[in-house]
Amino acid sequence: MRSSPPPPQRRSSKPRRTVSIIGTGSYAPERILTNRELEQMVDTSDEWIRTRTGIGERRIAAPNESTSDMATAAALAAMEQAQVSAEEIDLIIVATVTPDTAFPATACWVQKRLGAMRAACFDVSAACAGFLYALEIAQQFISTHVYNTVLIIGAEKLSAITDWTDRNTCVLFGDGAGAAVLRNRPNSHGVISTYMGSDGTFTDILIMPGGGSRCPITPENLPERLNTIKMAGKEVYKQAVTSMFAAANRALEDAGLKYEDIACVIPHQANIRIIEAIAERMRLPMDKFYVNLDRFGNTSAAAVAMALDEAHRNQRIKIGDYILLVVFGGGLTWASSVIQW
Ligand code: UT7
Repeated sequence: MRSSPPPPQRRSSKPRRTVSIIGTGSYAPERILTNRELEQMVDTSDEWIRTRTGIGERRIAAPNESTSDMATAAALAAMEQAQVSAEEIDLIIVATVTPDTAFPATACWVQKRLGAMRAACFDVSAACAGFLYALEIAQQFISTHVYNTVLIIGAEKLSAITDWTDRNTCVLFGDGAGAAVLRNRPNSHGVISTYMGSDGTFTDILIMPGGGSRCPITPENLPERLNTIKMAGKEVYKQAVTSMFAAANRALEDAGLKYEDIACVIPHQANIRIIEAIAERMRLPMDKFYVNLDRFGNTSAAAVAMALDEAHRNQRIKIGDYILLVVFGGGLTWASSVIQW
């Protein structure tokens, strides 16, 4: 006889709880693809890539390495740091545009690998902004007492959807994963403010047009490479600067803080010129910004998560610091968060 389903979880009327990041982790594939190697593949140069983007090299996953493999590695590192076992995880959210499979969700593949059998699992599709969308969802669930322990992951195998004949895009992207474990930590620091925004009128400027229900891949359209990233670079660039600055202002205002109060800004890692433009608008020196795009390129949803883990592990951020995370991506989507570490 089947047992009856558990009663639905309800929002509690208890006061909202503080949500802290209690562990971070990241993973980068071994294979390094340098600008010099790209010079052999398309009409580009190390000089062009460095001066226009700040990228020196990026990591490329092995052919048999999937997004969930990288996500699992990052998750295990975050869980180890947080000293959280798989059984304690209530929810797994994976932010990605390169899921292992259209369904099941990549989060379910990760669950299987971790053995986190108590967890509910789903993916978030918000392109490069996905990790902060996942952070916002996690913090809503924890602060309202629905869940205690949430694992969020940004993971991408962008090499699988890159057109390696298109110099406008193939020099920009890389693979990797970053993760964080969130939990209520009474009387402690944590997430102070979060903000998310989108503008679907810009769907066409950063898109993988083929492979979904709108435009299935067929033998006829295969040569058009519609299952790869298409981007109107200049337009995306302009929108990125405007949206990220506005999002950062919003999270800061909601936190009741000023830019001078922020110890470290961890932005989406797309282009050093975008970060410099934002720094100028914020009137902050570049040494306040954590940058690793020179080594990893743009890893979409993984980028801010990998940078956060690095900044934490190399003590660029310290207990009590106010940090500002701000991201931007296809959709268009953007998000920001102020956290006291
Ligand atoms: O993660 C989601 C968000 N994504 C972004 O934020 C990306 C935003 N966009 C960008 O970062 C920049 O727009 C790019 C790096 C993509 C391009 O830089 P740009 O300064 O906007 O260059 P452009 O597209 O205006 O191209 C300038 C020139 C063009 O040649 P002509 O028409 O002036 O003769 C391009 O064909 O550079 C050429 N070009 C290249 N040359 C050498 C474009 N890509 C390359 C390349 N190597 N890889």
